[in-house]
Amino acid sequence: MIYLDHAATTPTHDTALEVFVNVSKHYYGNPSSLHDIGAEAKQLLEASRRTLAKILNAETDEIIFTGGGSESNQLAIKALLSSVDSTKNHLIVSEVEHSSVRNLFEQLERSGFIVSKIGVDSLGRISINELENLITERTALISIQHANSETGVIQDVEKIGLLTKKHGLLFHSDCVQTFCKIGIESKWFDAVSVSSHKVYGPKGVGAFYLSKSIDFKPEVPGTSQEKGIKAGTQNVAGIASFATAAKLTYANRADEYVRLTMLRSKIIEGFKNSGIECVDEGSTENKLSNILGLRFIGMEGQFLMLECSQTGLAISTGSACQVGSEKPNRTMKAMGRTDEEAIEFVRLSLGSENNEEQIDVIIQKIEVILNRHFAKAKF
Ligand SMILES: Cc1ncc(COP(=O)(O)O)c(C=O)c1O
Repeated sequence: MIYLDHAATTPTHDTALEVFVNVSKHYYGNPSSLHDIGAEAKQLLEASRRTLAKILNAETDEIIFTGGGSESNQLAIKALLSSVDSTKNHLIVSEVEHSSVRNLFEQLERSGFIVSKIGVDSLGRISINELENLITERTALISIQHANSETGVIQDVEKIGLLTKKHGLLFHSDCVQTFCKIGIESKWFDAVSVSSHKVYGPKGVGAFYLSKSIDFKPEVPGTSQEKGIKAGTQNVAGIASFATAAKLTYANRADEYVRLTMLRSKIIEGFKNSGIECVDEGSTENKLSNILGLRFIGMEGQFLMLECSQTGLAISTGSACQVGSEKPNRTMKAMGRTDEEAIEFVRLSLGSENNEEQIDVIIQKIEVILNRHFAKAKF
């Protein structure tokens, strides 16, 4: 099987796996316990916090550990909102956010907040002018992802950060897909969500940066762990493994960016040379090197994904949470595609397992599936 679904999850790095086993065996103490075994676990926890803080250019006590990217998104946004006064009841969110953000904003809207949604253009980009026009004196917070998990399109979060500062608003960004791949400066944001299993760490672990300037109120007073934001004994082995994976992935990011950009363009070129009618969705100027959001004209994405799976290619129809929903892809709809076009969407996302030798196999397998499909369609 050629694995082309790294935006959904990545295999755990060998070294991160070793750390997980070692910490589970030898540093099993509860980091809140006051004896030496607890203190050792606490030291590891704090060392992991330092590692993440360094990558995000933040301070160590600005990192909160969680159970993954979705939880980071929801806890970070709620912590930010707990710091604003009740007259600020307007929120802005993009139309192309991950379901964990979208669902939370729907709940916030039901609970009385006024929510404005900002769309994207046909290349998947958010307009800063349009964003500024949505801001009112009641706006409390803006949540906009750093890069889209389906098209890989990167938003100009630095500019958005300047805008939010100018208007005195809070800015949260879901950086799950960009973390350890491109630079993230904590000073642009008030909160940033990240996840372990997208950077070759274990699943069920995540973190978020929360600026020290935020005077948040814990949702459940009395919670002692993670500044009162995330209750429960920390998953020290998972967190240490996450920090190890993050450090390795971050150190390798420049080489991997060049390598995956080359693989990416060769795949697109290969489809073109084979005469396959394929649309590479999203702005080519500002895109993650590992994500190819594609449409094969006349071919339903879900069907292609299942056929690919049978022939040994693991691709996806987009965000894992949308699989099986049979609805046209949301990001494509937000980019102005018709239902028929949005249903054609598939995502190939590259990572450490992929290499140049696989390119011909990928092209050939997809070509065979498409030829068979269109030959059948003629009769
Ligand atoms: C942009 C984005 N945000 C959040 C998440 C959720 O992360 P997790 O699976 O760790 O909850 C994902 C995962 O698909 C994602 O792509």
